[in-house]
Amino acid sequence: MGHMLHPRPLIRASRITARCRQLGRQIAGDYAGQHPLVVPLLGGAFCFVADLARAIPLHGLELRFASASSYGAGTVTSGQVAVDAIPECRDRQVLVVDDILDTGRTLRAVELALRAAGAAEVRACVLLDKPTRREVPIQAQYVGFTIPNRFVVGYGLDYDGRYRHLPDVCTIDEE
Ligand code: IMP
Ligand code: MG
Repeated sequence: MGHMLHPRPLIRASRITARCRQLGRQIAGDYAGQHPLVVPLLGGAFCFVADLARAIPLHGLELRFASASSYGAGTVTSGQVAVDAIPECRDRQVLVVDDILDTGRTLRAVELALRAAGAAEVRACVLLDKPTRREVPIQAQYVGFTIPNRFVVGYGLDYDGRYRHLPDVCTIDEE
């Protein structure tokens, strides 16, 4: 194995759990009596949506996965976004769930694809927001934590497929 990167906790699992419960209650209140279609983006959202969805007590909720990838093997966005498996969403209120809102390119591409497929409304819920990195004017209606411009891993976020399984959101310092 090449050089080692050392993950250091930035947001601990217990804080993430507590925030997911708050967001879940907020989302359930906002969509009360409705039947939103929750669309998590794989693979980064896999931990977040597992905790978030179970914290949304809404009977009418439907959940279907899609996927988007923008990063290659590094920590700098390629600028290209591939969107796959957009579910049937005509006239639906869609809540996209992603791990992190960075440049905004991914969310914009997904939103355009959902609108092209007939979605009536598209909102987004992201665990993390790095607003200083934005290149596209887009916001998420629900944000877990706003963080500075550091590359983070864990709780679903990866560095070339690694570190997704870490329970905490961690920074990695490249040396
Ligand atoms: P955007 O298209 O630049 O907003 O990037 C969103 C996607 O880039 C996320 O879904 C992540 O997969 C990835 N990403 C952005 N920042 C980070 C990070 O700090 N760590 C890991 N992945 C990241
Ligand atoms: Mg991602």
